[in-house]
Amino acid sequence: MDLALYHPEWGYYSRRDGGPGFREVGREGDFFTSVSVGETFGLLLAHRIARAWELDFRKETPFVIVEQGGHDGRLARDILTGLEETGTPLREQVEYRIVEPRPALRGILERKIGENPIPGLTVVPSLEAARAPVGVFLCNELLDAFPVDLLVFEGGCWKERRVGWQAIHSSPCWVTAPIRPEWTPFTESLGTDFPEGYLTEICPAVDAWMQDAAPLFDRGLWWIIDYGHERDDYYLPQRSTGTLRTYHQHRAGEDPFAHPGEQDLTAHVDFTRVEEAATRGGLARRLFTDQHHFLIEAARPWLLSLEGMRPDPLTVKRLRQFQTLTHPGMMGQHFKVMELAKLDA
Ligand SMILES: C[S@@+](CC[C@H](N)C(=O)[O-])C[C@H]1O[C@@H](n2cnc3c(N)ncnc32)[C@H](O)[C@@H]1O
Repeated sequence: MDLALYHPEWGYYSRRDGGPGFREVGREGDFFTSVSVGETFGLLLAHRIARAWELDFRKETPFVIVEQGGHDGRLARDILTGLEETGTPLREQVEYRIVEPRPALRGILERKIGENPIPGLTVVPSLEAARAPVGVFLCNELLDAFPVDLLVFEGGCWKERRVGWQAIHSSPCWVTAPIRPEWTPFTESLGTDFPEGYLTEICPAVDAWMQDAAPLFDRGLWWIIDYGHERDDYYLPQRSTGTLRTYHQHRAGEDPFAHPGEQDLTAHVDFTRVEEAATRGGLARRLFTDQHHFLIEAARPWLLSLEGMRPDPLTVKRLRQFQTLTHPGMMGQHFKVMELAKLDA
């Protein structure tokens, strides 16, 4: 999964139209995200950031926003433009750092920003390089793109499903192997009350990532926005085919070997794993809710500002986007927001 998504030359997230670049996300791509719905997602996050700056950080400066998985920089632009629209004095001095570790993509993003500069926006190579005393970290659909390991329940015990190679057909295939010793405490915690052939996954990459993400600020908030579940729900015996899925031209599939490097691979996020890793890193969970509740709360000042006004075409467009982002049957319930905090000095 790591190679299929991130191989520097052939990985899905490394290239576009045969060369290095950012995949199209949205109608022309393979899947939609809240960012690709339009600028309203960034506008609402801007309102939420402005409020956090006033209430949680008492307008402390300097104040830094760090985004990872920022892709082509669209959300960064939407948030910075949104901050301008809110009229908050934060806009004047805020710094926004996109973390892009891959040199080729970082170069492309820097050039793209350079062509249409936006004050305060920079690209940095690592979370370490993004460090600041105070700020907000955010990522939208970053963790669902982390590589996962597959676990299968067979013959009354947990095993690993790994990728092998069928020389005779020159193609990849599944191989069942004994479970790695380091996964045993986890599978023991799951127990054995699962149907034969139950397939699921774990994402150890979350632990290493959080080790780097937690020291980002001395005081700050971390917003992880993604689809996923808490552990009890994630590893329900009924969820017997796991959550690893593929997306190609807006069609979901279940064969990770199809279209290598040409289709997205994704798995739901185990938010309990995120929280456990965060706790080890000194962060505390402040909120876990769905996107519907998070954005409706964030939207309060924006919606109040519209009261009594005849909606112009821009507002009508944004209200439509707002509905897509928050409606429980669209993106409102599927996406979750975990807010982690380190607020004491
Ligand atoms: C599903 S896309 C989401 C893109 C964007 N955040 C959005 O919501 O439209 C996942 C993104 O995370 C990026 N990504 C994955 N691992 C990363 C890492 N370690 N650092 C920075 N970006 C990463 C991928 O390259 C890809 O751009």
